[in-house]
Amino acid sequence: MQALAQQEADREFAFSEQEFAYLARLVYEKSGIVLGDHKKNMVYARLARRLRALGLSTFKDYCALIADGGSDEIGYAINAITTNLTKFFRESHHFDHLQEAVLGDLNAQALAGGSKRLRIWSAGCSSGEEPYSIAMTARSALPNMDTWDARILATDLDTNMVATGRAGVYGASCKEALPAGYYAKFCQSADAGTVRMADSLRELIAFKQLNLLGNWPMKGPFDAIFCRNVMIYFDAATKARLVDRFASLLKPGGWLYIGHSESLREDGQRYKIVGRTVYRRVA
Ligand SMILES: C[S@@+](CC[C@H](N)C(=O)[O-])C[C@H]1O[C@@H](n2cnc3c(N)ncnc32)[C@H](O)[C@@H]1O
Repeated sequence: MQALAQQEADREFAFSEQEFAYLARLVYEKSGIVLGDHKKNMVYARLARRLRALGLSTFKDYCALIADGGSDEIGYAINAITTNLTKFFRESHHFDHLQEAVLGDLNAQALAGGSKRLRIWSAGCSSGEEPYSIAMTARSALPNMDTWDARILATDLDTNMVATGRAGVYGASCKEALPAGYYAKFCQSADAGTVRMADSLRELIAFKQLNLLGNWPMKGPFDAIFCRNVMIYFDAATKARLVDRFASLLKPGGWLYIGHSESLREDGQRYKIVGRTVYRRVA
């Protein structure tokens, strides 16, 4: 208790419980992200730099600036608070499943005269490694992909992340995360130590800013939706609403991939589980 009080006293900017509660409520209303009391230090750490840049001396002033509503300061605060951790081929079993079950099936149907339409949504794509991994998998699984009507939609709330994904430039060390042969095929050297994703991937992906809590302009239907490591920040009601909306945008039998620590057990009857954190729309 004393250590906590000392920590508060040592802070460069005063940050009261009320100010934290005010910010947490706004972030929840705007993004669905739940900031429990244990996140107060994280919020302080992520916003202190912003207070310095704005020349403010207290969180009271910062909250007043947000309340004033004249700027998009709440948008900036949310960008700072989102956790954007991601990597190429994260949870690689999802990409194996995508390749074999989803794309393998679609390809077989196309060979039998079916449609060559493919739609995949990376919902909460962060800096873009997930949609580029999907694009590499699709390019590798579907021969003659240029004869397909194929699109990957990549969306995130955080405008900085959407811009990074759209730029498509990553550290060359990404090679370690890619399956054999993909680096040579899909990555082009850029400035020192970086690589640029190949045009053959970029042309498949549309990066857009989108709040999962808001209106969705797209109609679908999607063959598959990736929403991984996003719903962990939401409460049960928000998550239930979201997975129901996903089901409505998936084609019947479409696939939903979620994060390794998530489950849909409590979320109704619209999906059946078909593998580790892989669900299929059944209703
Ligand atoms: C940990 S990253 C997950 C990235 C990727 N899906 C993965 O699994 O590697 C979580 C992302 O969810 C985004 N996010 C959080 N709340 C959101 C919301 N309401 N709408 C859209 N994206 C949101 C964050 O900006 C962040 O980039």
